[in-house]
Amino acid sequence: MTDPILERELAYHEKLYSGFAQSHFARPAVRALRAHMVRRILALTGAGAKSRVLSLGCGIGDTELLLAPHVGEVVGIDLSPAAIRQARADAAKLGIGNAKFIEGTKAEGRFDAVIAIFFLHHLPDDALAALPGQLKELLTPGGVFYSLDPSRARLSGRVGRLLIPGLMKRYQTPDERELDAETTAELFRGAGFEARVEMYDFASSPLAGLFPGWRSAYAAMRAVDEWILKTPLRVAGSNFEVVARVLP
Ligand SMILES: C[S@@+](CC[C@H](N)C(=O)[O-])C[C@H]1O[C@@H](n2cnc3c(N)ncnc32)[C@H](O)[C@@H]1O
Repeated sequence: MTDPILERELAYHEKLYSGFAQSHFARPAVRALRAHMVRRILALTGAGAKSRVLSLGCGIGDTELLLAPHVGEVVGIDLSPAAIRQARADAAKLGIGNAKFIEGTKAEGRFDAVIAIFFLHHLPDDALAALPGQLKELLTPGGVFYSLDPSRARLSGRVGRLLIPGLMKRYQTPDERELDAETTAELFRGAGFEARVEMYDFASSPLAGLFPGWRSAYAAMRAVDEWILKTPLRVAGSNFEVVARVLP
């Protein structure tokens, strides 16, 4: 591999997926967050029992394995061999036969939905700009793209950098950055997609990764988020979604 950004991404994630991610993602609050994400993905993409779903930058596949029972097939692709090994092992352990995990950066095939969970903000600007054009080759007519990424305007980022800068750094690769929601959606519109932005959360996802990690704490914070997201404070939400459909 000769791309220095990909090399740094790989080095960071190989270490992350050598044990820390597995135990961190197993926390009840994070499992509850993943289950909420799956319900949200199903609602916003309309994916169902016959859909083929591609997940870009799938990591250890914990979201994809929760999604698999609801769709026809899930294919996850990730740069990190350690992530793919874990995803395959978990699929086998859970007896999930309709989830396939591939090591790499270039997906092939046709899909009814393509999802990218915490992935776009890891792509360099040129790769991010090129992605919508590439997605047109991966989506079936009427297919939907869904992404979830940290917003540049998030209050949680500013508070985190102030109060827990070390922890923030630990959870971030050297090259990732928060994204501007509308600028990201505009890349899709420029490539011939109809794209809209939604705000996913305010504090529930960031807190799911912190103390105390209880399922009930996540549920309570999620309920507070539902209320905050109806107020003007939503502009300072943590993670935004892009939902994009190729125009006929
Ligand atoms: C923040 S993680 C998100 C993983 C997973 N979607 C999740 O929600 O936990 C970003 C993932 O993208 C992968 N990645 C980074 N750049 C990539 C690329 N160009 N192609 C494929 N995977 C990539 C990393 O290995 C990592 O697993």
